[in-house]
Amino acid sequence: MDIVQIKRLKKYFGEGARLVKALDGVTLSMEKGKFTAVVGASGSGKTTLLNLIGGLYTPTEGTVIVNGIDLARLSEDQRTIFRRRNIGFVFQRYHLVPELTVEENILFPLALDNLRPDRDYFFRLTDMLGLDGRLKDYPYMLSGGAQQCAAIARAFITKPSIILADEPTGSFDIKTSQNISGMMKAVTENFRQTLILITHNQELSQLADRVIHIQNGRVVSS
Ligand SMILES: Nc1ncnc2c1ncn2[C@@H]1O[C@H](COP(=O)(O)OP(=O)(O)O)[C@@H](O)[C@H]1O
Ligand SMILES: [Mg+2]
Repeated sequence: MDIVQIKRLKKYFGEGARLVKALDGVTLSMEKGKFTAVVGASGSGKTTLLNLIGGLYTPTEGTVIVNGIDLARLSEDQRTIFRRRNIGFVFQRYHLVPELTVEENILFPLALDNLRPDRDYFFRLTDMLGLDGRLKDYPYMLSGGAQQCAAIARAFITKPSIILADEPTGSFDIKTSQNISGMMKAVTENFRQTLILITHNQELSQLADRVIHIQNGRVVSS
């Protein structure tokens, strides 16, 4: 089953002489439960594509269907709820709340929906990400890599069907990057989620089931 279906998708920014065709006619599908890497030069449209899949942007033209839902048919409020329940975002900067412990940071998204944590899932997740023993610590006490793992656990805690990761290890050395990306892959496989990860790095894209190359707002190979 295709969890993401994109048809003739365009996203333009600005107008006239300032018009930027960030995405210029993308058609592709992504299979449920698979790990897709999106690669391409800086400015090629990778983040724009991810933000359209996550419903953070609305298309200029074309359709984005996620989990069978045409995002254009949702109101802005409905899209926010859809995002909270279906999508986990991981960014290059982890945006942990400094005043909250690692555990409190990870559980934070559940509080937004008034949901109780699944403790078993929480412990399995944090163990897989190497955070056992760090849960009562504050973010500043952790290495950058461990902080990113906490942000990843936070993205997974709502059991989203899709994880969208935008260069999550862009600021780490290759060994740490491979380590973290490997953990993300293991978690998504374990919980049968779909992982879409943007990377600049060939070594990381090799972990993926499929690699999509983007150039100038178009898919050049996949
Ligand atoms: N909010 C925006 N407003 C104007 N231009 C944008 C915006 N977001 C992205 N762009 C432009 O769209 C193009 C693709 O950007 P982006 O998707 O961020 O590329 P990538 O993530 O591959 O580096 C770039 O030329 C960028 O400057
Ligand atoms: Mg980007």
